[in-house]
Amino acid sequence: MAEYKASLPDNRFTAQKNLALHFDRKIRYDSLMQKHPRTNSELVSRSLAAVWHPCSQMKHYETFPLVPIARGKGAWLYDYDGHKYLDAVSSWWVNLFGHSNPRINAALRDQLEKLEHVMLAGFTHEPVIELSERLRELAPPGLGHCFYGSDGASATEIALKMSAHYWRNSGQPDKTQFISLQNSYHGETLGALSVTDVALFRDAYGPLIRQQATVISPDWRDAEAGETGESYALRCADTLESHLQQYHAQLAAFIIEPMVQGAAGMAMFHPIYLKRARQLCDKYSVHLIADEIAVGMGRTGTMFACEQGDITPDFLLISKGITGGYLPLSIVMTTDAIYHAFYADQISRGFLHSHSYTGNPLACRAALATLDIFAQDDVLATNRHKAGYLNGISQSLRDLPDVLNWRNTGMIWAFEVQSPHADFAQRCFRLGLQHGLLLRPMGNTVYFMPPYIISEEEMQLLVMRTKTIIGALT
Ligand SMILES: Cc1ncc(COP(=O)(O)O)c(C=O)c1O
Repeated sequence: MAEYKASLPDNRFTAQKNLALHFDRKIRYDSLMQKHPRTNSELVSRSLAAVWHPCSQMKHYETFPLVPIARGKGAWLYDYDGHKYLDAVSSWWVNLFGHSNPRINAALRDQLEKLEHVMLAGFTHEPVIELSERLRELAPPGLGHCFYGSDGASATEIALKMSAHYWRNSGQPDKTQFISLQNSYHGETLGALSVTDVALFRDAYGPLIRQQATVISPDWRDAEAGETGESYALRCADTLESHLQQYHAQLAAFIIEPMVQGAAGMAMFHPIYLKRARQLCDKYSVHLIADEIAVGMGRTGTMFACEQGDITPDFLLISKGITGGYLPLSIVMTTDAIYHAFYADQISRGFLHSHSYTGNPLACRAALATLDIFAQDDVLATNRHKAGYLNGISQSLRDLPDVLNWRNTGMIWAFEVQSPHADFAQRCFRLGLQHGLLLRPMGNTVYFMPPYIISEEEMQLLVMRTKTIIGALT
């Protein structure tokens, strides 16, 4: 090509280039118009040339499948070669009511005709007002104020900053430290990583992070033989108390994923821990931040996981499922006491944090449509029935000799697989795709976190195919 170019007069080369550009645009246009259907391999190579994919070692895509998705409907995702995949992980835990949900689509179309976006500093709009009012009604009592972010990590950042700033405004500027549970995950930005205990995500950025302390996790898999999940949780709460006793003067907040630590491999714990954590945080004047980014919106069986410990945290973080998995939105809910510590004449006492898309009207409207579905379809009751059904049909899967620690909370299931393959997770993902399942094991932990609209037939298929896959890998 270089030689060919050199042999052409300049103007002829430009003409050739223009012609090539014209045809390239025409093919893209035809493809959009469905005249030139795309294929998986074409989209994979274009994606790998132009897109830096998240949470990925890009070189692994030389051998690891990248799956181009053309469309989604209900619990299914469809690629360009005619394959379909049951989305057993709700597309990174965000999708609640299926892909391309007609009710959420309709709400978004309506909102598009009214207002796509306006900045939230100095302005307001109906969707953000209504969403804040409705969340106040739904959340544990006492959380009357909603501050908006975009992704989950921005909610973590907001809560950490707000907590430390509260103490500063309250005359205790030394309270600037945080604690989290072992194996906690609260997002990937630098502040969120400082309370995230996953070495793989954190270590490369060690010098950039002000590392915070962790306390032992009440994950019941770590209980002693013969010890119940509840007594183990109480034992872990004693460790929390020792830490609070010693460091409370410097501690702003304890941040926790209530009921289920997602990225720790769906580590589940007894709600007594939440109750004790609330009592201890009150006793030692330390805020309790409930990160319900993954576990909120009905995922653990109640609208918010904190309800199971019958507690109100000082900060409640919501994201992921709040928009039904449509648009990025996060919310930090907090109490009157915290809100009023910022309410003053001096601007520096105010919370001056912002993101350009804070409280985006489209995202808020998707959230309102999501809340409508919860209310109209009695989703929590339906989910209880579905969870019972899946537990009932999965007996033969949990009885497999290499399946350990079967556990379920609400619409989350997980278990470990004893496999001779060191690369179990990758093999399981690949085999899952071949069987039409989107599974993303974390190490040897396989989990299901399906959209709530999953049908009984789809649950049967999920269990049967997972059994086949586990059989092939053990
Ligand atoms: C508990 C928890 N907190 C925070 C986050 C970060 O959310 P995002 O990925 O939207 O930044 C996640 C994401 O998985 C999460 O599970």
